[in-house]
Amino acid sequence: MTLDLLNDTKQELERLQAQANTMKSLEVKLLKQAGLKPNHSVLEFGCGPGFVTPTLCELANQGKVISIDNDEKLLRICAEKIKNPPALGFLTLNNSNTSYLESLDSTIDFSYLRFVLQHIENKQEALKQVHQCLKKNGIVCVVDSDDGLVLQFPQDEFINSLLLEAQDLQKKRGGDRLVGRKIPSLLADLGFSKIKSQVIMFTSDDIPFESLAKLLFGFKADLVGKTGELNEWINKKVIHTSSRKYFLSGGIVLVTAEK
Ligand SMILES: C[S@@+](CC[C@H](N)C(=O)[O-])C[C@H]1O[C@@H](n2cnc3c(N)ncnc32)[C@H](O)[C@@H]1O
Repeated sequence: MTLDLLNDTKQELERLQAQANTMKSLEVKLLKQAGLKPNHSVLEFGCGPGFVTPTLCELANQGKVISIDNDEKLLRICAEKIKNPPALGFLTLNNSNTSYLESLDSTIDFSYLRFVLQHIENKQEALKQVHQCLKKNGIVCVVDSDDGLVLQFPQDEFINSLLLEAQDLQKKRGGDRLVGRKIPSLLADLGFSKIKSQVIMFTSDDIPFESLAKLLFGFKADLVGKTGELNEWINKKVIHTSSRKYFLSGGIVLVTAEK
């Protein structure tokens, strides 16, 4: 019994690791396609606890990475993850320290904003800070979600009301769950050029259903206090998905542009 449990846990960890590796290799491919080079100075805006920061440090290993956020606690967690800083250094920065941010004026080759714009009320101000830090022809790459990309068949009542509740609450807090589609026009307003957008969709054939559901709805359930209900829903629905009686997909919008 214990052995079964250990084997199950091991298999589960291997599955999660394999999935993390798949997502990482997709993100690496997309970042390279977006123009990130080994000698680049990179500005990661809204780094959080550093899920992607070690990857940015690997990809810009001959340059430098500056990861900024407005949450000191997350900045500390992010910094602890960096065991191999790029040749020219790694640093974290609270972007309320505007004087340091101003000193980055026109020094950055590549800036990455990943799932952060949806949380920011004054999006133009944040993107303006990024614009000022970029060199001429420097690249910005923005990745964000858009609830309009969630497709289901048949429609599920629990999920539909969760989406609406989370949209409402995030809006009240200054956020926007439909930000993906707005990124190109936000960048155009600031004078960015060569704006290119793509939508990348995932189904439960690309990512296991449980992980896809957590990716799409986990944050929203946390936000409205329904994490337990979401877990129950996932456990019930997984069988319908494997028998093809429930379809779920979701996606991200990725936009690149040049200063
Ligand atoms: C959902 S997390 C994304 C973290 C990371 N980019 C990732 O993809 O894992 C959003 C992050 O944006 C940060 N954030 C929100 N508003 C911000 C602002 N005005 N300036 C800097 N960071 C901000 C939050 O503190 C949080 O760490």
